[in-house]
Amino acid sequence: MTRVLVLNGPNLGRLGTREPEVYGSTTHEQLVAALTSMGAELSLEVEVRQTDDEATLIGWLHEAADDHIPVVLNPAAFTHYSYAVRDAVAQRTAPLIEVHLSNPAAREEFRHTSVVSAVATGTIAGFGIDSYVLALRAIAAGL
Ligand code: DQA
Repeated sequence: MTRVLVLNGPNLGRLGTREPEVYGSTTHEQLVAALTSMGAELSLEVEVRQTDDEATLIGWLHEAADDHIPVVLNPAAFTHYSYAVRDAVAQRTAPLIEVHLSNPAAREEFRHTSVVSAVATGTIAGFGIDSYVLALRAIAAGL
């Protein structure tokens, strides 16, 4: 089975209660369950991790690069300003899909910039938790 890391950045552990009108009512725990079972259907071994810490996220991206593991990454607010996360993504050795629950392009100006997009394989945004599901499907299809 192909292993896939789903990496979630800051504040995504608070899904369900965090601005549900923007991010939906699914909790992070429910997201983990949904992606794990979707992964099994797609013959992917999905591991979901979440951190509010930039260094931890960068460490996971290094691990994925070293082990050639495809990644689904929601960098959350780091998307917009973290050159350190961007530089870690640039080291990827397997497909890495940037995902967002909301459509940042349709929101505040500061969300219109992603410093990650240019070094990701592709970006899926605006479909709620289906953004993650579509990314897993893309990985399963071999892109
Ligand atoms: C987000 C969009 C970001 O702008 C925001 O900072 C997040 C979540 C999304 O999934 O829609 O934390 O990445």
